[in-house]
Amino acid sequence: TLPPLIDPFARAITYLRISVTDRCDFRCVYCMSEDMKFLPKKDLLTLEELDRMCSAFINMGVEKLRITGGEPLVRRGIMTFFNSMSRHLESGALKELTLTTNGSQLAKYADDLYAAGVRRVNISLDTLDDQKFADITRWGRLKQVLNGIDAAQRAGLRVKINAVALKGFNDVELFDIVEWCASRDMDLTFIEVMPMGDIGNEDRLDQYWPLTDLRDQLATRYQLTDLAERSGGPARYVRLEESGQKIGFITPMTHNFCESCNRVRLTCTGEIYTCLGQEGWQDLRPPLRNHPDDDAPLHDAIRAAIGLKPKGHDFDYSRQDVAGKMSRHMSHTGG
Ligand code: GTP
Ligand code: 5AD
Ligand code: SF4
Repeated sequence: TLPPLIDPFARAITYLRISVTDRCDFRCVYCMSEDMKFLPKKDLLTLEELDRMCSAFINMGVEKLRITGGEPLVRRGIMTFFNSMSRHLESGALKELTLTTNGSQLAKYADDLYAAGVRRVNISLDTLDDQKFADITRWGRLKQVLNGIDAAQRAGLRVKINAVALKGFNDVELFDIVEWCASRDMDLTFIEVMPMGDIGNEDRLDQYWPLTDLRDQLATRYQLTDLAERSGGPARYVRLEESGQKIGFITPMTHNFCESCNRVRLTCTGEIYTCLGQEGWQDLRPPLRNHPDDDAPLHDAIRAAIGLKPKGHDFDYSRQDVAGKMSRHMSHTGG
């Protein structure tokens, strides 16, 4: 076996997030502009290439694989890829195969995902109101996602809801969302909106709702206890003493969590990004494509890229210069 992946700050890289498509059937206003231009499909890694990439990372110590996008379940043939990845679960090399999805296709795929070895899904859902859902996604139907959530739970998948905290939008629904998740035994995490990608006329600063404020609002109704535990992701947790419910907070803006970062990202076109909030990337396609029968150059390129992983991101809404923003969309590197 190959030596583990350790970055310059002694962090072990055991978590790979891979975007399998930049496409999405929704256009969430904080994520994409309405006329978002997607890559030509021919630029995407093929399913075989995705497989070879992920397998290389797993051979180098990656234990957790999260499939993202765009919306991963709109990629044609994606179940072939999931099914093929289950061999790494069976061998024990991979501890978790999972995905982050908008839920729109889950009614169709939940059973197949379970059969492939997926046990948990993160579903993005920012509101429980039909009209607001249609507004934020620009045309999505809430019912379709709720059906997807039902199907996931019926299939035996543990569900985590990811809600981006948006001022003037879901702040008024905070308690409804919290109670709805509790009533359905689903985990819940709130996320601070990050300045990534051009979103047309929308202004993220208008939408930005710091989770410190959200937490204060929660504290008006519940007694909160901060938990020390971390789950291998970026979230910190609080427990509501009244119900025992745990809520996650992902706070890239108000409290970065880079010191414990364990992950890198692979784009749908084969670039490795070693930080969500930094521009540095390396192209893994040449070692992949120029050496179809030899993984050594790919392994070397991966190790070299990890050797350049920066200490952390520097998103900052207080700086109005471009350095505080990223031109790249979340859907390109997969959140
Ligand atoms: P689990 O902990 O396994 O549930 O997953 P996760 O939180 O790592 O994955 P998920 O896809 O649910 O992540 C939710 C969101 O958190 C992502 O879409 C990003 O918006 C944000 N996020 C995840 N990882 C990072 C990171 O390394 N840096 C920053 N700034 N944000 C991240
Ligand atoms: N800031 C924070 N979260 C975002 N997401 C998409 N774009 C952004 C952004 N700019 C979230 C989605 C989903 C996850 C994959 O990333 O809502 O939960
Ligand atoms: Fe699609 Fe997710 Fe972006 Fe919404 S946030 S447009 S569901 S990728």
